[in-house]
Amino acid sequence: MNTRLDPVLSRIDSDLDATLDRLMDLLRIPSISTDPAHKADCLKAAEWLVEDLKSLGAEAELCETPGHPMVYGKIGSGGPHLLFYGHYDVQPVDPLDLWDHDPFAPFIEERETGKVIRGRGASDDKGQLMTFVEACRAWIAEHGTLPCTITFFFEGEEESGSPSLIPFMEANKDRLSADLALICDTSMVAPGVPSICSQLRGMLKDEFTLTGPVMDLHSGHYGGPALNPLREISKIVASFHDDQGRVTVKDFYEGVQEVPADILEQWKGCGFDEEEYLSGVGMTESHGEAGYSTLEQQWSRPTLEINGMWGGYQGPGTKTVIPSEAHCKITCRLVGTQDPDAIRENLRAHVESRLPVDAKVTWNQDLDGSPAAVMNTARPEFEAARQALSAEWDREAVFAGMGGSIPIAGFFTTILGLDSMLVGYADDDDRIHSPNEKYGLKNFHKGIRSWARILDAVSKA
Ligand code: BES
Ligand code: MN
Ligand code: MN
Repeated sequence: MNTRLDPVLSRIDSDLDATLDRLMDLLRIPSISTDPAHKADCLKAAEWLVEDLKSLGAEAELCETPGHPMVYGKIGSGGPHLLFYGHYDVQPVDPLDLWDHDPFAPFIEERETGKVIRGRGASDDKGQLMTFVEACRAWIAEHGTLPCTITFFFEGEEESGSPSLIPFMEANKDRLSADLALICDTSMVAPGVPSICSQLRGMLKDEFTLTGPVMDLHSGHYGGPALNPLREISKIVASFHDDQGRVTVKDFYEGVQEVPADILEQWKGCGFDEEEYLSGVGMTESHGEAGYSTLEQQWSRPTLEINGMWGGYQGPGTKTVIPSEAHCKITCRLVGTQDPDAIRENLRAHVESRLPVDAKVTWNQDLDGSPAAVMNTARPEFEAARQALSAEWDREAVFAGMGGSIPIAGFFTTILGLDSMLVGYADDDDRIHSPNEKYGLKNFHKGIRSWARILDAVSKA
């Protein structure tokens, strides 16, 4: 019996329909941050959140930036001070024809495995963000106050590189100060296995154009003598990895540590289902770096991926052309203390040293990088949250690595001196960034209950 928490949990259960209606309202706003055509929608989502925070009794305001606005709110006094971060922007929806419904007309779908919330942003990150807001709402409705002080900080540019984030954090250090940051934007290692993120990979983005002839050429007239940029870029791209799947860029693995044996042992028991992870996307085996398990490849090994490569004629039929240009987009996932700037330099040198005579390369100068982040799991709040989650999900919560990147977790530390604790309730098959995104209704419901338990536990820790 927990006389403070139990009524909050009951209220969450009885208010679930109204809670879902609110999430649906937010999901109907097409806040695609990368697309200028949706600028007004991003503003609308931010305004919606300001109003929603005010409905909790929080002080809340919209903060203009050169890009999409931030949402800032504060409620409560006393107890530990927690800063909750989430993002209200979503990924673009194309290819639209692969959706089986309008991405911004959310609905509940009955599946054999249970009900799911369908729509862009259901899982990444509107549904997850609202789990925390709704936990606060239930707590306030029941007790008139929270057991802690909470600052809300919502961003609308996470899916488009967060250009305004660092300047905003630098300029608002005081307003963002707290004891601990909380983030709900991660997944669970396996369905039903509550997971606290222990490490996130960093990211380096780069992009180049390889130019050969000054214009597209007739492949009969010039085929033979001409330098073909697509052929040359293919050779360069093929040289990024050896036949063991290791990246060959100089010093790429500097700062990469092997995972300690005891952590590897812990990961083995975390409930991750390799077979399902692979077969769910049509793979029969893992294609990564030799000598590392699938989980290590996903969580603790760095990668260099080609995200896009194009050039030449792409239309219907044939065009006998030697293109003037070829293009390549690259991102690396980083771990340990790998330095994005050093890797960028070596990556560029790798490409430039392989250019044939008459070829030129130009680099996109606007792309950034962020290092990997390791969470401070020794803080007492992590153990408090672990116990709270274990009670809610009837299964021991685990500390799990994550393959994705949430650069703000690192910025909280470097700019604000703030540790972050990331707890998320997404499933790996939520199709985030893909057509037909969903969020399990159970994940949403238990996610809200989980935060209520965590607030209770952390405010006592
Ligand atoms: N919520 C994701 C990151 C994520 C997904 C972490 C699943 C853990 C599990 C976030 O919105 C995202 O998409 N991040 C980008 C960031 C990048 C563009 C800097 C990513 O990981 O690709
Ligand atoms: Mn996200
Ligand atoms: Mn995302």
